[in-house]
Amino acid sequence: MTKNQHDYYLQQMGIQRWISRNTAVNTEQVMANDIINTQSEKPVSELSWEELAARVAACTLCPLLSQSRTHHVFGDGNHNADLVIVGEAPGANEDLQGKPFVGRAGQLLTEMLKAIGLKREDIYITNILKSRPPNNRDPKPEETANCTPYLDRQLTLLKPKLMVAVGRIAAQYLLGTNETMAKLRGQQFTFRDTGTPLLVTYHPAYLLRSPGQKKEAYKDFLLIKKALETL
Ligand code: URA
Repeated sequence: MTKNQHDYYLQQMGIQRWISRNTAVNTEQVMANDIINTQSEKPVSELSWEELAARVAACTLCPLLSQSRTHHVFGDGNHNADLVIVGEAPGANEDLQGKPFVGRAGQLLTEMLKAIGLKREDIYITNILKSRPPNNRDPKPEETANCTPYLDRQLTLLKPKLMVAVGRIAAQYLLGTNETMAKLRGQQFTFRDTGTPLLVTYHPAYLLRSPGQKKEAYKDFLLIKKALETL
C-alpha cells in the first residue's frame, strides 16, 4: 500500500493524520491518481476518451495547480467537430464550473462564433492547461509540459480539420514561436507535422479590455469561416 492509499483509508475511517500545512494535498485526488497509475500503465498517447478524461481528473503532476483548483477543465464540445479551438487555461468561472470558456470571455467567444454561423455544439474547445493557474497568471513552462500529452491526445482523437489558437500564449505554444500577435494573425499556419491548418485570433478576454479590437477579431473569424468552407 502506498503512503497516499494509506492516508486515504485513514481519511475514510475518520482518522485525522497530522499533515504540515505546506505539504497538505487533496488525498482523494492523489488516491485516484494512484489507482489509475497502478491499474493502467498505458501511456497517455494510447488512452481512449474516457481513460484520458479520468487521467486528467486525477492528475497531480502540478502539485500547486492540482491543490488550488476547484475543478479541472478537460474540454467540451463535439468529438466529431471540424473546428477545434485551443485557449490558454481555465479562469475563475471555468474553474468553478469545470468547463472551458464559460465566463464573460467565453460568452464573447460564443457570440463571435455565432456571427459566423457556428454553435458551441458544432465545435470542440479546450485549453493548453487543464487547471487554473492562481490569479490567472501565465502558465509556467513545467505546467505546460505536464499538460502537453493530454492536449496532444485530445487532438489525435479529435483529428480536427481546422484549429484556432485564441490568444498569444496558445498561439505561441501551438506554433512553437515567440512571434507577436501582429505577425501571427491573418495568416494560415500548419499545426506541427499534422497538416492541420491553424489560424490565430485575439483572446476574448483581451477584446473585453480592448473593445476597439473587436473589428479586427471579426476579420479573423471571417477567415475561420472561409477556411471551413474550403476544407
Ligand atoms: N481563458 C482561456 O484561455 N480559457 C478558458 O477556458 C477561459 C478563459
